[in-house]
Amino acid sequence: KSEPPTVFHWFPFIGNAISYGTDPCDFMIKNRKKYGDIYSFTMFGSKTTVYLGIAGNEFILNGKISDLNAEEIYAPLCTPVFGSGVVYDCPNAKFMEQKKFVKFGLTQTALESHVRLIEAEVLAYIKTSPSLKGPRGTVDVSTSMAQITIFTAGRTLQGAEVRSKLTNEFAKLYHDLDNGFQPINFLIPWAPLPQNRRRDRAHTKMRGIYMDIISARRARGARLEEEEPDMLWNLMGCVYKDGEPIGDKEIAHMMITLLLGGQHSSSSAGAWILLHLAARPDIADELFREQQGLGEELEYADIERMPLMQAVVKETLRLRSSIHSIMRMVKSPMSVPGTEFVIKPGRAVLASPAVTHLDGSYFANPYVWDPHRWDSRVETETEEDLVDYGYGAVSKGTRSPYLPFGGGRHRCIGEGFAYVNLCTIVATLVRNFRFSTLDGKPTLPPTDYTSLFSMPTRPAVIRWEGRFP
Ligand code: HEM
Repeated sequence: KSEPPTVFHWFPFIGNAISYGTDPCDFMIKNRKKYGDIYSFTMFGSKTTVYLGIAGNEFILNGKISDLNAEEIYAPLCTPVFGSGVVYDCPNAKFMEQKKFVKFGLTQTALESHVRLIEAEVLAYIKTSPSLKGPRGTVDVSTSMAQITIFTAGRTLQGAEVRSKLTNEFAKLYHDLDNGFQPINFLIPWAPLPQNRRRDRAHTKMRGIYMDIISARRARGARLEEEEPDMLWNLMGCVYKDGEPIGDKEIAHMMITLLLGGQHSSSSAGAWILLHLAARPDIADELFREQQGLGEELEYADIERMPLMQAVVKETLRLRSSIHSIMRMVKSPMSVPGTEFVIKPGRAVLASPAVTHLDGSYFANPYVWDPHRWDSRVETETEEDLVDYGYGAVSKGTRSPYLPFGGGRHRCIGEGFAYVNLCTIVATLVRNFRFSTLDGKPTLPPTDYTSLFSMPTRPAVIRWEGRFP
């Protein structure tokens, strides 16, 4: 039994941090050619073992909780942002219960009611955004999508009362808190840097806003069944298996998590979709035609009637996965089946479904954005592929080369919402605008990997023209 090979590096302590950080997917793919599917690389004095391919995704995403731990890796970064007692700052069994509690806003019935709210938010944004005034102009899609997705998620997942507070002050707090997601914070989250001080101040203030709403509701003596339901009311009524209700501070932290958790992936996917549509106006026109038979106001059933729109989202999440690295800490020696390798406890392991998405053996011309590749392709799941960790059946993703939402115990709970949100946002935009690139050529900005999530390099500006001037 032996250790996986280690990627060569010139600099002793920094190791491969710079090449990995500059373009993680390219780094992993190049080294796969040299070292195979399993190899280790060095960053700031510690080693991470990468295991690529379907077997690697399975090994890491479906590992046993006694072998692999997510909290130890993610907590330093996430806890100062999300807060104590939730997500990675509690035993995984408790987080599983929290994932179940927030499903309230993600059920089929909830998603059905979200579509109109999302459409209304996008229409209001179009009316009020200075960069969308007039018959034509240019717009920075990264900025616009970040704004649109915070409003739509705010209105649907957080509720009308919280949405009404999404004004300038809230936006500033959101921004300062979000800036806490810096790669450096994996290593030294409590360093006395100005951005960390702003992060901590913003966290305390935002928690205060939620706790004030909760106190006011309790003081009114109002009861859940008499009020317009929303996520806060839902969490105020939830009880852990041991009979304990969720504390108010924890409720506030769960609300913060919900607001920030899916934000980057959603806004990055939205921005990439608009960039691709600007580069492929033929597909945008097809999307416009796809909507011709639908009513003036979008509704949930319409999403089923937009197969190309769904394929556009699906293809964008394939080619532009914003989460390139999924990591766990090894807790006991793990033999890698079918190989001579053993991975030692204390080692971080990394899976990358994003790299599998770019593998030519599963996707022909993998670097080409082609939503029509999904016309004839179905990723089927059988009963054996599903497993229930306490928050509903999720895919183990064992055989699929396409896992934009991860798999297993830590799988995303936001998939249904992400589709409804992105399809409704893009459908509303396509109904109102034609898009093109600045120079009319099908070139897109490169990917920026310097934050934790891969996004289009800013500014990512496209041209727009109103369809009904
Ligand atoms: C987990 C992707 C939207 C909430 C994950 C994971 C991925 C992912 C890959 C697995 C992480 C891991 O195994 O370490 C995405 C993408 C999204 C999206 C691509 C949008 C396009 C959302 C939304 C929400 C959300 C909208 C909230 C409603 C979560 C939560 C987890 C998760 C709570 C579980 C983390 C855990 O158990 O450790 N997501 N996500 N995501 N996501 Fe999402």
